[in-house]
Amino acid sequence: MAPPFVRPTVRDMDGYTPGEQPASGSRVVKLNTNENPFPPSPKVIQAIRQVDAETLRRYPNPTADTFRDAVGKLFGVSRDQIIAGNGSDDILTITTRTFVPPGGSLASPDPSYSLYPILAKLEDARFVTVPWLDGWDLPVDALVDTNANAIYIANPNAPSGTYVSPKRIVELAKKFKGLVLVDEAYADFAEGNCVSLVKEHANVVVSRSLSKAYSLAGLRFGFAIGQEQVIAEMMKVKDSYNCDVLSIAAATAAIEDQDYAKFTWEHIKAERTRVTDELTAIGFNVIPSQANFVLATAPHGQAKALYDGLKAEGILVRYFDKPGLSDKLRITIGTSQENNALLGVLKSLTAVEKVA
Ligand SMILES: Cc1ncc(COP(=O)(O)O)c(C=O)c1O
Repeated sequence: MAPPFVRPTVRDMDGYTPGEQPASGSRVVKLNTNENPFPPSPKVIQAIRQVDAETLRRYPNPTADTFRDAVGKLFGVSRDQIIAGNGSDDILTITTRTFVPPGGSLASPDPSYSLYPILAKLEDARFVTVPWLDGWDLPVDALVDTNANAIYIANPNAPSGTYVSPKRIVELAKKFKGLVLVDEAYADFAEGNCVSLVKEHANVVVSRSLSKAYSLAGLRFGFAIGQEQVIAEMMKVKDSYNCDVLSIAAATAAIEDQDYAKFTWEHIKAERTRVTDELTAIGFNVIPSQANFVLATAPHGQAKALYDGLKAEGILVRYFDKPGLSDKLRITIGTSQENNALLGVLKSLTAVEKVA
């Protein structure tokens, strides 16, 4: 029973359910939370080692300027167009608190990232969903008609891995008066992105994560790019020191080592094609993905049984017991070896099912 002095909104809500994190050292093939299967760049570890005691004694630079300069150089934008956060979830929290007032509303195509409704609720705002159009196309007009304060679009989307062209986002940004947040946590695995849109559209903010593309989910680092006057408002909302000295040093080194990051993206994209083909061959219906995971409908409606069967063999994938998703598995693309292990177990499990 929640204590009576807790805010009613908090008391009555469920928190976010993260993917299972096995104890460190346990021997599992972990394909359930879209982490990058490669270690971070060696330059990241070097940068962390170089942080000295004096630097730890002091507060960090409150706006992570070395990091912002590295990102600015990469994307050709000014430091003042960038805000850094403790993971892109922190950026999403800051965005919600900046643009969605209590009593207001936040809209998103459905299904999408399951954190969005929780962020709305915490603001005492309504969360409004609009179904994706056929082929996972963006429901531009229905989203505009919500009259929400902000629209969040994960692109590529989670959990589908589908991608909306920047042209469709421009259509939305032109018609909609509120904020359009393009959540690009997976954009480095996709054929394009929306960063250039912020130049023309003051109401577009693009968020990025270092968790997936830079193998730093444990470090917690993300950022957003927008127009200067928009970012300045978000700066007022963030915690004073939302990024620590170790993570600023590490995240900066990661962004500066593009060659290493790109090597991991290329490997993951090649494996994504192979996993898609092999899953299809054993009866899955795989939605073409532009992220580092695939969403696959299991043969014979056996998603939960296959999830359990994989888990029994030490392979974790994600199963959502929700309408529209309960016949599917979301599978993170791992190393070739990890993917082989997954495919091997799935081949034997689906073969057994066919016989049964
Ligand atoms: C669409 C989407 N956005 C944001 C995040 C959060 O990323 P981060 O680890 O940077 O907080 C995730 C994590 O899975 C995600 O799927």
